[in-house]
Amino acid sequence: MLTQAENELMCRVGPGSGMGAALRRYWLPALASSELPEPGGDPVHVELLGEHFVAFRDEEGRVGLLNEACCHRGASLLLGRVEGCGLRCIYHGWKFAVDGKVLETPNVPDARFKDRIRAKAWPVREAGGLIWTYLGPTELQPSFPEWPWMEVTDAHRINAMALVPCNFVQIMEGLVDSSHLSVLHITPLSQADKSELDFARKTEHMAFDAAPRIEAELTDFGFHYVAMRDIEGPEGHRIEARVAAFIAPCFINNPNGDLFFACVPVNDEVTRFYHVWWNSERPIGEEPLRSQQLKFVGLDDEALARHGLTPGTIDGPLRPSRENRWHQDRELVRKGHFTGIFSFTEEDVAVSVSGGAIRDRSKEMLCIADHAIGRLYRVLLNMAKRVAEGAEPLASKANTRDIRGTHGTLAPNQNWRTLVPTHRPPSAAAASEPVA
Ligand code: FES
Ligand SMILES: [Fe+2]
Repeated sequence: MLTQAENELMCRVGPGSGMGAALRRYWLPALASSELPEPGGDPVHVELLGEHFVAFRDEEGRVGLLNEACCHRGASLLLGRVEGCGLRCIYHGWKFAVDGKVLETPNVPDARFKDRIRAKAWPVREAGGLIWTYLGPTELQPSFPEWPWMEVTDAHRINAMALVPCNFVQIMEGLVDSSHLSVLHITPLSQADKSELDFARKTEHMAFDAAPRIEAELTDFGFHYVAMRDIEGPEGHRIEARVAAFIAPCFINNPNGDLFFACVPVNDEVTRFYHVWWNSERPIGEEPLRSQQLKFVGLDDEALARHGLTPGTIDGPLRPSRENRWHQDRELVRKGHFTGIFSFTEEDVAVSVSGGAIRDRSKEMLCIADHAIGRLYRVLLNMAKRVAEGAEPLASKANTRDIRGTHGTLAPNQNWRTLVPTHRPPSAAAASEPVA
């Protein structure tokens, strides 16, 4: 439980907000590479942390991210034309390169005028099927994070994104909440054993213990937590452990070990929920493996559009809402489906969105199963507090290559921490901060 002031601080991300200042100290995915496929293609609108930008890919394939409002007199550059190595505003024809250099100002006779001005362009890196940017102060720009899945080719990676109409913390809390898996997702989980998919096999056992033991602790990247389930099998009793990692500011490594999430705020009430699967051995990014995986979790294009979770559908009648009962089918419930909701993603979206765009955490009643949720709140609040006080942002010294989500069977008396030997405790200063 949080006070209303803490909840506001944790959730609000716009310019001038405490959490917004913290998030602006990290590289964040702004959009998927697939949203900007063609060199010289149409520019696209990007909203990130409540601010509006235009992304474009010039004819050489370089990506630029500019403020949406033209620096001359504010026309939207979404109307602009990509010409050669720049984006031309259609109002007076000023043309901008991906780095903000002004290439032409045709309505100004002085040819040197353009050399004295510059448009605001944000740093861009493209890696792992995502286009990343950094919206913070230039002098504080951190090094670009290196994740293992950035090193595999497209054929060995699956990228997917659902646009979800609620605050980013609501999605993240569902990702560090192991106990909901065997309740909310019981129907798709119990169908999992019929599937050949890695994802299905790795989650199959969770259908059998709805009350896992949860332990969580701080690390130098944020925190990790374990859910331990007692399983009675033909060979007797065993303990299955699933360890997830929350990495500041909004990333999670799933215990399946091959799945990364980024929950990036579009604004206070909409989140881009990115998924990245990778497998260096199997070409999971190729058909039919790619479509099978996406269909299984409800992230294929058709399912996302049908549930109002795409840029083209989120503002229409399909947006998940009370009016459409968050896409729950009561007839399906009567027939035996536990939720009556399409699949994993849509079930998660329904429960996250139905609590309100920004859930009121002063009115909740956390229990022992929510240990990692409380930890998430405190780490996020510390993240904002550190930046407000001028301290190093949380996780700035962590090596992203060493961070794991993982799972395994524990031998008798085996400590779950041995599953993640590369995770390090926080620095002494961070550890001394108050954490519930
Ligand atoms: S407003 Fe863009 S060139 Fe004038
Ligand atoms: Fe879920």
